[in-house]
Amino acid sequence: MTSDEAGQTATTSDAAGQAATADGAVRRWGELSTACVLLDGFHAVKHALRFGARIPLVVTSDKAAALDLAAQLAPDVREGLAALAVEIPREILRELLPRVHPTGVAALAVRPERAANLAALARTPRPAPVVVLDNPRNLGNAGAVIRLAAGFGATGVITTGTLDPWHPNVVRGAAGLHFATAVEGLTVDELPDGPVYALDPEGEDIRTRRLPDDALLAFGSERSGISDELRARADELVSLPMRPQVSSYNLATSVGMTLFHWSAGARL
Ligand SMILES: C[S@@+](CC[C@H](N)C(=O)[O-])C[C@H]1O[C@@H](n2cnc3c(N)ncnc32)[C@H](O)[C@@H]1O
Repeated sequence: MTSDEAGQTATTSDAAGQAATADGAVRRWGELSTACVLLDGFHAVKHALRFGARIPLVVTSDKAAALDLAAQLAPDVREGLAALAVEIPREILRELLPRVHPTGVAALAVRPERAANLAALARTPRPAPVVVLDNPRNLGNAGAVIRLAAGFGATGVITTGTLDPWHPNVVRGAAGLHFATAVEGLTVDELPDGPVYALDPEGEDIRTRRLPDDALLAFGSERSGISDELRARADELVSLPMRPQVSSYNLATSVGMTLFHWSAGARL
């Protein structure tokens, strides 16, 4: 089943229909799980609901506890959660999931259309930069970067190389915030237009630059830094302040500092 088909199925039969019973929910989970994105835990489901994800199914081992959590931490999503969540026994939840999140909540969401994400990434004028991760290797880092991009209102996150930016562990690391920004994989040749600022410890001090809203902010691989291909496409190499003898910062930390620098410049 493609994600498009999953989306159609999701709209024609929602949790209030086929999946309203535990048996129905388990059956729906089986039908949808390969085409949909797993949202693991209450916070991921909360973010996905807030940012308009299409969520055909939420399962929980304790619906009352999940709704109490929503009332305490995120009253804005309580009603949506109440409408979608189906309670199923914890031992059955364990069979559906690689591991059960401590909040006992999980959901399946329809992945946004690639064409829509690519259009959002290419659209100009661009109100906020696109983050480019050049051949990232660590799934947790990629998730943390997507969370940062969502928090700063970046236009999106593009990865080059073989890492799948929608891998379940990336989605887990991003706490469901893939739905708050545009996330896709592309080659360096396919990057959208815009000035490329490549982050490299050998570059010019970033504090001497104001990063424009239409920038592509590119970060290198954890192992080998910025690739030759991306270096050739870069308009500028910029560095984050770092005292001598420290080799580099962690990838996600570098993205956080750079987005903060962009946001501070945008207010001047
Ligand atoms: C863990 S570092 C890569 C280290 C790698 N061994 C290298 O040779 O660059 C991952 C990425 O974070 C960014 N980064 C880390 N420290 C930086 C710094 N001081 N200035 C600019 N970018 C930095 C760069 O984009 C870098 O490619």
